[in-house]
Amino acid sequence: MWLRAAKKIAVARRGSSGTASDFIALSSTCPHLGCQVHWEASHSRFFCPCHNGAFNPEGKAIAGPPAEAGQSLSAYPLKIEGGVLFIEAPLERLDNQGRSLAPPEMPYAGIKSGRFLQGGR
Ligand code: FES
Repeated sequence: MWLRAAKKIAVARRGSSGTASDFIALSSTCPHLGCQVHWEASHSRFFCPCHNGAFNPEGKAIAGPPAEAGQSLSAYPLKIEGGVLFIEAPLERLDNQGRSLAPPEMPYAGIKSGRFLQGGR
């Protein structure tokens, strides 16, 4: 059995205090119609190319249909334990063919030095 994040998540570091507040984890799925957003460093924003939606670094919609509808990028809770950053995000189980077996769960998954670790609640 395999697990994968049910949503693509963008994680950014915004401080160096050594706490979870140094980081932000946002869904990279546009809340308008589900296209993938990407970071535009030159404009300091997430941009959705499908309908020109834009989001500030905190995930708040600032332009396009998401802003008109008040739809921001979903943010996921974070915590740091033992030097590992944990993200509480939906996971889904996959069979050995990569097909989804069950609806998403919400355990914490950890990232340390760019490596994905499975965590618990
Ligand atoms: S899907 Fe992103 S703006 Fe429409």
